[in-house]
Amino acid sequence: MAVVTGTLSVNAAFLREIKEDNRRLHELWDETERLLASSPQEPSPRQVAEALGTLRDQLALHFSLEEAYGYFEDALDVAPRLSERAEELRSQHGALFLELCGIVERAEQWLYHETARDVLPAISRRYRRFLHALKEHETRETAMIMEALNDDVGVGD
Ligand SMILES: [Fe+2]
Repeated sequence: MAVVTGTLSVNAAFLREIKEDNRRLHELWDETERLLASSPQEPSPRQVAEALGTLRDQLALHFSLEEAYGYFEDALDVAPRLSERAEELRSQHGALFLELCGIVERAEQWLYHETARDVLPAISRRYRRFLHALKEHETRETAMIMEALNDDVGVGD
């Protein structure tokens, strides 16, 4: 079933997939945050590398869903004035993903004894900074999409 509102059409199955992806992404970033913060019992390098690697794979899916389905374009058809913000937000995907890949790499170096043993605090700090930026990105993206949808159905006219 497709819900058609003006020029913006959203497939119901796709919406379910997006919802499931979002739920999973939030679960994984929370789990990783808890794992990295766990004290006094330190997580093992394997646990850290696996949690970060799983989150990276989910983030790749998340960004590709957003980009492949092109809801940015849909939002822009409806509300061209949002185009600059949409472009800026989309351009953040690459940098966010690369940063997470860098953190995964650090964790793998730790796992394979290629780095100092006390690297965990640095990984935790870097992860917290990354997560803050990712959450801010997601919040701005949701706000932009809501704004485009509101324009589309004429709310606020
Ligand atoms: Fe995004």
